[in-house]
Amino acid sequence: MPLFFLYKPPHPSSHAEEEEEPTQTKRSSAEQPQSSARPETPSILIPLYSFTDRPFVRIAFLPLPDMAAAPASGMLRTSMLRMSSSQFPSSSWSPFLAGDAGRMGKLAFGTASSIPSHRSARWSTAGRGPVVVAAATSKRTLRVEPVEIRSTEEKPVQFKVRAAVTVKMNKKVDWKEAMFDSLVANPLEAMEERQGKNVCLELISMDIDPRTKRPKASQEAVLRGWTERMKGERAVLTAEFIVDSSFGTPGAVAVTNGHQREFFLESIVVEGFLCGPILFNCHSWVQSSRDYPDKRIFFTDKPYLPSETPAGLRELRKKELEALRGDGKGVRKLSDRIYDYDTYNDLGNPDKGHELVRPPLGGEKLPYPRRCRTGRLPMETDFSAESRVEDPLPLYVPRDDAFEEDRMEMLAEGKRKAMLRVFVPSIVASFSGGDFGGFHHVDSLYKDGIRLKRGLQEDLIKKFPFLSKIQEACEGFLRYDNPTIISKDKFAWLRDDEFARQAIAGINPVFPPVSKLDPAVYGPPESAIREEHILCHLEGMSVQQALEEKKLFMLDYHDVYLPFLDRINAQDGRKSYATRTIFFLTEQGTLKPVAIELCLPPGAPATRSRRIMTPPTDATGTWLWQLAKAHVCSNDAGVHQLVNHWLRTHASMEPFILAAHRQLSAMHPIFKLLHPHMRYTLETNALARQILISGGGVIESFFTPGPVAMEMSSAAYASAWRFDQESLPADLIRRGMAEPDPTQPHGLRLTIKDYPYANDGLLIWDAISTWVRKYIEAHYPTAASVASDVELQAWYAEAIRVGHGDVKDAPWWPRLATPDDLAGMLTTLVWLASAQHAALNFGQYPLGGYIPNRPPLMRRLIPEEGDPEYTNFVADPQRFFLASMPSLLQTAMFMTVIDTLSTHSKDEEYLGERRLQTYAWSPEVAESFNEFAAEVGRIEVEIGRRNADPERRNRCGAGVVPYELLAPSSGPGATCRGVPNSVSI
Ligand SMILES: [Fe+2]
Repeated sequence: MPLFFLYKPPHPSSHAEEEEEPTQTKRSSAEQPQSSARPETPSILIPLYSFTDRPFVRIAFLPLPDMAAAPASGMLRTSMLRMSSSQFPSSSWSPFLAGDAGRMGKLAFGTASSIPSHRSARWSTAGRGPVVVAAATSKRTLRVEPVEIRSTEEKPVQFKVRAAVTVKMNKKVDWKEAMFDSLVANPLEAMEERQGKNVCLELISMDIDPRTKRPKASQEAVLRGWTERMKGERAVLTAEFIVDSSFGTPGAVAVTNGHQREFFLESIVVEGFLCGPILFNCHSWVQSSRDYPDKRIFFTDKPYLPSETPAGLRELRKKELEALRGDGKGVRKLSDRIYDYDTYNDLGNPDKGHELVRPPLGGEKLPYPRRCRTGRLPMETDFSAESRVEDPLPLYVPRDDAFEEDRMEMLAEGKRKAMLRVFVPSIVASFSGGDFGGFHHVDSLYKDGIRLKRGLQEDLIKKFPFLSKIQEACEGFLRYDNPTIISKDKFAWLRDDEFARQAIAGINPVFPPVSKLDPAVYGPPESAIREEHILCHLEGMSVQQALEEKKLFMLDYHDVYLPFLDRINAQDGRKSYATRTIFFLTEQGTLKPVAIELCLPPGAPATRSRRIMTPPTDATGTWLWQLAKAHVCSNDAGVHQLVNHWLRTHASMEPFILAAHRQLSAMHPIFKLLHPHMRYTLETNALARQILISGGGVIESFFTPGPVAMEMSSAAYASAWRFDQESLPADLIRRGMAEPDPTQPHGLRLTIKDYPYANDGLLIWDAISTWVRKYIEAHYPTAASVASDVELQAWYAEAIRVGHGDVKDAPWWPRLATPDDLAGMLTTLVWLASAQHAALNFGQYPLGGYIPNRPPLMRRLIPEEGDPEYTNFVADPQRFFLASMPSLLQTAMFMTVIDTLSTHSKDEEYLGERRLQTYAWSPEVAESFNEFAAEVGRIEVEIGRRNADPERRNRCGAGVVPYELLAPSSGPGATCRGVPNSVSI
């Protein structure tokens, strides 16, 4: 906008001229041919700057000084409005009323034959279309405004419209539920249907009824065909409505479920209005009115900023958000759809014993993002701890955020596999003492490894013959898939170059920053690594030269581990250092480790508190070096899981999602933009609190930090998490892995040119950024439109003040005042939910499933000469190495969990895909999305090309695993690739 159309004086004598279309050449008054009837009347340009859904407009002739020259009357033709709306009758004219200065008149559109003969008449447009609000330019000003009409002045015409309603029922994974449905619920429902206890729909107009001052609503219509057609998974049912010509355009549908059970409402398409089919994209569970007497409201698919909400929908928009926010009280039922906040006070289980007491996360002492509130009752022994719901009992998440059936089936399959896969190792472990006897025992866990009966388990099979039967029956289930990391080169993990490569193309390709711990408590912050330790590995450079040329890098886990080491190492079977690893960037662009510093707390014996390991020159040194690398990997595995994966994607996204549901209406354009990137995150996080990060859960059991794991995560949140540095470019710059350079692609010069995560990530970052910016441009033309969007501002403010309330006063929160601010912030959220999470999540089994390569837990420190264990180590270094790793049972259980966590389900929605949204409401936005999808496809091709480029040695070469974690598409399964839209596993 603005479009323009021309005022033209009436010319009733020339019908042919009435049919003439206005053209572009008529846009200026100078070019406008003058009417022969009234040649003295000037043409007037009327800019068309807005539309409403009202059927009438008012024209006011403004009292300007030279109004004497204003036209007395005229005609406006609907073909002139064709760009604005398809809802006018195509041949409609409207009289342009007499123009005495200051007088008001009416303008409306009907059929050509219905044009009134006198200027005071009013008539209906059959209530079906928006009309124009227009104003004239220059001094001859016409102001054309919406106006309401009293229904008493005419008798509205009634007409019939129809709704096609797509509903879905569960496939019923649970056989008990399926049985109940077939025997009880379905017959009961059929009977009730006959008694009139139906599903009913009501159309709600975008207009206010001028008499009642309430939104206009149709009468309720029953959804037909329920009992006959609900046997399949999905059905399209119909409802018919009678509306009158003054109804306007439907902007919402109210749904009442009179049945016993909930049903899933996919969409409603209303047909019969002149504007064409109207889509209501629902995708929501509708509960029985016995449980929820209020009608469910579904808004039209077209988004509206709060200030643009049609009058008839304003109150409903407000009420819907109030319902979603709830009142912060009570225990949530599984069928609720209330989004609220709480602290992580549900991780411990003090009622089960003191060893399962865990401090709540969230608050001054242990800052943390907030989680979704469930309102469960407190524990009996600790009122500050929420009672737990243990697996397999279901947890509360707002109903529409619960997993759909394909995903539940995938998880159920994972559980079945887990039971079988852990069963045999657990018997073996009890039989063998629990440790691997050699690397061939590790191999026996995999499909391509030695057969069960030829390994350690041979004696076991003789003793328990039923095990061989299980093996034969469940061969596929009992064996783990070969992890990608050993699929191309089984021994790659032993090499230093592979150890280094995984730092930039592995599961946790993020270098942390340098030490900031208090030296008074934790000793000198400087590393004990000296020039002499590394000089011989720098290809002839001095350390100073290497530093100046940005050839030295540090993988620094000093600060995150050191404050917790006393508590970690006090546990049986858990031993850890705070490690620092120095890498040198070689001429070939690959990294090589040149020193590892193993730090213990200051209280440890002097020789042990700072121990430096360097690349070996003899057999003993080689094994010690392997052990040091294993400790680095164990440190890395903990930080990967607790900080980079869980905290920075899963946990930090949750407050933004809760705030979005509470503050952004479903019809808000930003809610629609974020919706695909919020899918399943709340249930994924709830399940993680149930079985992964809980006291005694998977993370505590299989990662070195054990019970202090989540306290470490909280410390990282307090000391290092900054939303303004969560964007990929800012994160790379913060870590010294890139510096701004406008001459380079993406505006960054990478310190390591062949850094697969950064190389591929920047392609995706830019694609997301372009799409988001175009989307924002389409909805927010000015800074004022961002600043004045009350829902948007409330969303951001609540996400910070409540969801991230423990860091709300930090000075680094980006402001939200301009479209640029908004686009930057949303790009970061979409990046975190999609690509960043994918890079950190889907390699867990493929790259971490071979435990010697990346032990998540270490059970022994590295012995020194003189230690009692040193003799054992020298006598059998392989056994000592394996005994330092997780035990057989720990390994089997850990592999089972990360296998499930690395698996894409069948219903995954990947970057550049949309299951629900077509953006049909805006050709401009739809086009932008298509461009985004096409760009995502091009990125996939480019990633394939890079993985085949021998110059890129960090992702291509003999036995090198290609870097595909940011390749956008994937099939189901643990594929080590694929970027889903959301944090969904
Ligand atoms: Fe994840």
